[in-house]
Amino acid sequence: MLRLLCALLPLLRLGHGAELYSLELTNNGPITTGAQATVQARLRTKNENDTSNLYHFNWIYAPLILIEKSEQQLNSVINVTGEFPGTFPVSVWVTHKNCWLCRSVVRNITVLQITEFITGNLTIAQIEDSRVTTHGSGSSMDTVTRISFSLYDPSQYFKSASFVYNWDFGDGVYQITKEPFVCCNCSSMGNRTVHLKVVAEWEQTGSIIHEREIMQKTGDFTTALELLDAVKSINIVGSRETHVMENLNLSLHINGTPPLALCWLIKSECIPLEGDKCHLVEISGSCYNLSHTFRDAGQYCLSVRVENGVTVLQTYHGIKVRPAGIHPAFFVLLCTALVSVMLVLVLYMTFRSNTPQKDLVEVFSYSYFELG
Ligand SMILES: *[C@@H]1O[C@H](CO)[C@@H](O)[C@H](O)[C@H]1NC(C)=O
Ligand SMILES: *[C@@H]1O[C@H](CO)[C@@H](O)[C@H](O)[C@H]1NC(C)=O
Ligand SMILES: *[C@@H]1O[C@H](CO)[C@@H](O)[C@H](O)[C@H]1NC(C)=O
Ligand SMILES: *[C@@H]1O[C@H](CO)[C@@H](O)[C@H](O)[C@H]1NC(C)=O
Ligand SMILES: *[C@@H]1O[C@H](CO)[C@@H](O)[C@H](O)[C@H]1NC(C)=O
Ligand SMILES: *[C@@H]1O[C@H](CO)[C@@H](O)[C@H](O)[C@H]1NC(C)=O
Ligand SMILES: *[C@@H]1O[C@H](CO)[C@@H](O)[C@H](O)[C@H]1NC(C)=O
Ligand SMILES: *[C@@H]1O[C@H](CO)[C@@H](O)[C@H](O)[C@H]1NC(C)=O
Repeated sequence: MLRLLCALLPLLRLGHGAELYSLELTNNGPITTGAQATVQARLRTKNENDTSNLYHFNWIYAPLILIEKSEQQLNSVINVTGEFPGTFPVSVWVTHKNCWLCRSVVRNITVLQITEFITGNLTIAQIEDSRVTTHGSGSSMDTVTRISFSLYDPSQYFKSASFVYNWDFGDGVYQITKEPFVCCNCSSMGNRTVHLKVVAEWEQTGSIIHEREIMQKTGDFTTALELLDAVKSINIVGSRETHVMENLNLSLHINGTPPLALCWLIKSECIPLEGDKCHLVEISGSCYNLSHTFRDAGQYCLSVRVENGVTVLQTYHGIKVRPAGIHPAFFVLLCTALVSVMLVLVLYMTFRSNTPQKDLVEVFSYSYFELG
């Protein structure tokens, strides 16, 4: 009876202590049959005074085959392999060391995925192959779409394999490559599906009869390709001249797939726009109306940068701002008047020395007439 109580005591204590521990259990699957997976268990204790305690990690991984096991004070790692595809639960529970009767401190379970196929990912990047146009309005550029396959092989199972990649672009175009990527200058925008079949082949020495054999594994991958149209041009429609305190209305027409990030800035000089030192607007259409009022006269430049997921394009628009109320016609009139006054002055100087007063009056009335 006393013995039973003694055996139960630690049980009660540890059952209560479960909240003091957590056990993180992770695996690096999915893996290919024959390759190795690493399952990692990390014990965390909230009781800092507990570090002197020793723990034992009890693993259950059958029917997987254990390759290696390593255990430190608060963590344990196993490498396992499997000959058959499927989803395999791997569990671990932690007990105090040298306490076979004790209940587990904490336990956890993880599910490892094993497939008979090659594992990896397809990634897509749309790259602009021309540099960003910095002067004048943008010109049309070619976009290159790069589709890359990244093999997922943490245990280097395929290190001696040679790969062949069969690409199907979904538009009747096929390509076979030895490199894990293709660049397609898919000119038409839209959605399509790209298929890739990866074939890996390598030589291996048989384990029973030491004979060389050819191993082969394949993998099928599919990705949806959404081709965006590059920002091809920016058209600024509106006047290049305005007056102080007058509304200047400009319309920006953009040729490119929205959503577009438009950034504009009006300064005395044209400047390449970088970062967010400009007025940023997100537009979902292809047109943006801009209204601006100038306080001072002078020469200005509207710098515009437009980008979508594919391209960045920049353009400039010069604006001349005249002083308020000065009409060009009035300006011409003012000049005429000034020239007339000068003429009168010259004439006056000449006539003053050798002509009577009467003629001078006539000259004055003549120039006055011209001014009117
Ligand atoms: C089990 O492991 C997972 C993954 O690391 C973790 O999120 C979870 O909290 C763990 N459970 C316990 C009881 O520690
Ligand atoms: C850890 O030990 C210190 C001093 O030995 C004690 O004051 C503290 O309460 C202990 N902490 C826990 C969580 O037991
Ligand atoms: C593949 O992509 C998925 C989703 O994008 C991601 O969760 C996974 O970690 C990736 N795997 C590799 C091996 O990059
Ligand atoms: C166990 O797996 C890890 C990670 O993949 C690796 O670094 C280590 O070398 C493996 N150990 C053995 C014995 O294969
Ligand atoms: C891709 O570009 C190359 C050279 O620039 C050209 O020869 C080929 O026809 C283009 N392919 C497509 C599908 O546009
Ligand atoms: C492509 O697919 C996305 C979402 O899947 C959709 O928003 C978009 O409108 C599609 N584009 C075309 C051109 O069909
Ligand atoms: C610009 O637009 C505003 C209203 O949006 C209007 O009041 C103003 O007259 C316009 N300016 C010019 C020069 O058309
Ligand atoms: C821009 O202005 C034009 C005419 O001034 C108008 O037709 C158009 O709808 C406006 N666009 C936006 C996005 O406000």
